[in-house]
Amino acid sequence: MAKKALITGVTGQDGAYLAQFLLDKGYEVFGLVRRMVNRNFENLEYLGIENKIDLVDGDLTDEASLINVIKRIYPDEIYNLAAQSFVGTSWDQPMVTCEINGMGVLKLLNAIKICCPATKFYQASTSEMFGNVNINGIQDENTPFHPRSPYAISKLFAYWITVNYRESYNMFASNGILFNHESPIRGKEFVSRKITDGVARIKLGLAKEIRLGNLDSRRDWGFAGDYVEAMWLMLQQKNPDDFIISTGKTHSIRDFLNLAFKYVGIDNWQPYIKIDPRYKRPAELFTLQGKNNKAKKNLGWEPKVSFEKLVMMMIDADLKRLDNS
Ligand code: NAP
Ligand code: GDD
Repeated sequence: MAKKALITGVTGQDGAYLAQFLLDKGYEVFGLVRRMVNRNFENLEYLGIENKIDLVDGDLTDEASLINVIKRIYPDEIYNLAAQSFVGTSWDQPMVTCEINGMGVLKLLNAIKICCPATKFYQASTSEMFGNVNINGIQDENTPFHPRSPYAISKLFAYWITVNYRESYNMFASNGILFNHESPIRGKEFVSRKITDGVARIKLGLAKEIRLGNLDSRRDWGFAGDYVEAMWLMLQQKNPDDFIISTGKTHSIRDFLNLAFKYVGIDNWQPYIKIDPRYKRPAELFTLQGKNNKAKKNLGWEPKVSFEKLVMMMIDADLKRLDNS
């Protein structure tokens, strides 16, 4: 019989790639979707899988809905990817962010403990939890945390409650500490897609500028399609554990801009960029670079898509979209 996986956050970037990955592995895939006036299945449609997933109604902030869904499906694996995932918004809506990203995870773990304690659980933890610790070095699983945003703080609670349920109730619960990962279906509010969409528009004469915040921050950017494999691998291990998933390389926003503009034949990008204080953050996280040795050794996982290839892939996809629109 096919294994059953429940993905929360299935309409997001990672949810869509993970659903596609699990469908290819022969899983029966269920996706939790919350009530919205206008539901958006764009990412699932982009990957051509919108009709292959069983969509179930529920919200991470409503424990009763989680219990109902879990009792209906009895999944073998649950991947918790749902979140208010935009760091910038977390200063404007700190309570909603903590309700979903923090308490929501506790509610989900509790529902699993009550209904199906043998189900394997994946929690989407984040490199944001490190903050500016070890800023000149590389972060690994032993680097201490110092979260710098309400988003990171909510995720730190979720990280520890996942560890605690593992230790207290012997549940198979693992944290993937994922560094930034992008793709052609990344939300346009994130800097990578904002740049590739903006560069494609400038190239096609549809826009004249891109407004950005801090160009000096550095991120360890990988491809989302590679990272969902690591999520699955974590749940195939004998024992639950926590893993960093990253490329091990770091680049600045300026590096991203250089590469993106160069790819469309523009060498001097400065005139197209306007610095807008609205996009600066109250507390910035300056540099992220993750050491992925544990994942390489224990999971046999490695990133396949390079930074350069990722930027080109995203620009090609945005050019194609705009050309067709
Ligand atoms: P994303 O594109 O923003 O997707 C977030 C998903 O969560 C959406 O499907 C959204 O549904 C859903 N959601 C939000 N609130 C919910 C609620 N109350 N109940 C049910 N679903 C809810 O995020 P992503 O980039 O795919 O990231 C996936 C996860 O990994 C997130 O937890 C994120 O924090 C974490 N993470 C991401 C990265 C990265 O670089 N991408 C790195 C580390 C960790 P709607 O369509 O209804 O809004
Ligand atoms: N979004 C955005 N928009 N960021 C900008 C801009 C802008 O106009 N200008 C500069 N930046 C800088 C931000 O200040 C930050 O230093 C960096 O670009 C990356 O911002 P985002 O792309 O929004 O991603 P993030 O690193 O804050 O968060 C993402 O990665 C985390 C993992 O490290 C999200 O996917 C989080 O959900 C994830 O946990």
